[in-house]
Amino acid sequence: MLVSNEQLEDFNIRQFQKDLVTWFEENKRDLPWRENQDPYRVWVSEIMLQQTRVDTVIPYYQQFMEKFPTIDALAEAEEQQVLKAWEGLGYYSRVRNLQTAVREVSEHYGGQVPDTKKEISKLKGVGPYTAGAILSIAYGKPEPAVDGNVMRVLSRILLIKEDIAKQKTRKLFEDVTTSLISADKPSEFNQGLMELGALICTPKSPGCLICPVQAHCRAYQEGIQEQLPVKAKKKKPKGKQLVAAVIENEWGQVLIHRRPSEGLLARLWEFPNTEAGSADQKQVLKDFLTEHYGVNVTVGKKVQTVEHVFSHLVWNISVYQTELLNEGNESDELRWVSKTEIGQYPFPVSHQKIIEQNVK
Ligand code: ADE
Repeated sequence: MLVSNEQLEDFNIRQFQKDLVTWFEENKRDLPWRENQDPYRVWVSEIMLQQTRVDTVIPYYQQFMEKFPTIDALAEAEEQQVLKAWEGLGYYSRVRNLQTAVREVSEHYGGQVPDTKKEISKLKGVGPYTAGAILSIAYGKPEPAVDGNVMRVLSRILLIKEDIAKQKTRKLFEDVTTSLISADKPSEFNQGLMELGALICTPKSPGCLICPVQAHCRAYQEGIQEQLPVKAKKKKPKGKQLVAAVIENEWGQVLIHRRPSEGLLARLWEFPNTEAGSADQKQVLKDFLTEHYGVNVTVGKKVQTVEHVFSHLVWNISVYQTELLNEGNESDELRWVSKTEIGQYPFPVSHQKIIEQNVK
């Protein structure tokens, strides 16, 4: 193996591979996506695991695989059903992109997930991490799969002090991993790094005393494992004040709205709402409903406030009860639905909370 990185000088690559892979083979968790190496199953798991913890992912993964067991099943499914299966996981563009990509594989690759970096990287939502994970885990190719956890682990082992929040740093770690990766067990090597990050080399209080690669770890030798990785602090998320209406008609149906096709939570459903800033909330809500939907209401009392924290944004939603005066017009984006039908529509978590408390 050609060693070009200065970080790898005097580093015993062979022994490191062996210690890591052996530990992984003996200690790996029994996870549903490890049942076999079906590239589609690996792909779905890797998309779900981005930004979401293993414990949260497991039940979603199992249900998703029951509903959409193959590439063709997912390619042919209605998008709303797919979003419903993802409901609560967040970052919904992940699954919209996944479905777009799966349709591409179905139409242009005869339903076979491509096994080259060049082709697989053209698929929507498949970045360097996902490409490397699928190629190594499903196809046994020695490609790096570097996410935040892997950067944490390697920053400690190799004492790399670059800011992992920077795009450039990921490339450095990919280059290092390319030199480090085991040629005959790339899947076990990559998953070993992930597993080590999850079970031992954790962000806080890493378990160095039981670490299988302690002997290789430069941060441990210097006693600075808890200071790594270096990561610039994110800006505080901006707050947004919203007002939302629960509107019921004489048939006991409630009014819901589909979000636009672009942007945050695209094409999920919600209670009609708008930004209020610091203005008179009831007035803003009443005017909004009339002007946008032709719905005439008397706005009643505030019945709930819901806070939802996104990575870059905090929603603070004031929810109001209303008296309906005039129904307005239904459209594709605006629907009256019964209290049993509402369960079939995908809602963001913040609006699921509004359903729970106000739609009975
Ligand atoms: N995190 C990301 N990918 C993973 C995998 N394949 N197994 C466990 N945790 C992961």
